[in-house]
Amino acid sequence: MSKAGRLVVLVSGSGTNLQALLDASADPSYGARVVAVGADRDGIEGLARASKAEVPTFVEKLRDYATRADWDAAIAAKIAAYEPDLVVSAGFMKILGAPTLGAFPVLNTHPALLPSFPGAHGVRDALAHGVKVTGCTVMLADSGIDTGPIVAQEAVSVHPEDDEAELHERIKTVERRLLVDIVGRMAREGWTVSGRIVRIGNQSGGEST
Ligand code: GRF
Repeated sequence: MSKAGRLVVLVSGSGTNLQALLDASADPSYGARVVAVGADRDGIEGLARASKAEVPTFVEKLRDYATRADWDAAIAAKIAAYEPDLVVSAGFMKILGAPTLGAFPVLNTHPALLPSFPGAHGVRDALAHGVKVTGCTVMLADSGIDTGPIVAQEAVSVHPEDDEAELHERIKTVERRLLVDIVGRMAREGWTVSGRIVRIGNQSGGEST
């Protein structure tokens, strides 16, 4: 059974999910704390939030490396330096490579109900498809785009007048709460993965992998 006390959180943008984790981990009984924040670009609100919380940061930009494999190795080394129990990809707009995925469990959050609408435009694609219910998914990352084992999901209604920004904000309100809840439970209770089935806590059924 894995536990998740030390978190490295990866961000590419506003970092409101990161902020929710920082706020939750201010309470020691939460069971997890953010030990570092990594990004693939400078000048983003997510990094400012980390600095304000006095959490160390690192930035690895793809364009600074000759190959994707070099970047994969570099970001894995930066993450490893903080000895995380769990890496949380919270609005991080890159697929992590084998050096990171092979070394640490990585939790990812997505603003749609997977397996519908994976990829960078989950909210836009759901809206364009005309669905009446969408939501958010917390999953363990694998090498695919939003294809890993699902840990938790929550539904959000689509309103007739919604545009992408409005709907995304409503999803993010739910997403932050769900992510904080799941990370805390994984940290406190541990988790097992059997094939695609993720179980949090000491429940029977399924072999731990
Ligand atoms: C979240 O909805 C996440 O699922 C998506 O981008 C958003 C990031 O928001 N990939 P924030 O940076 O945490 O505010």
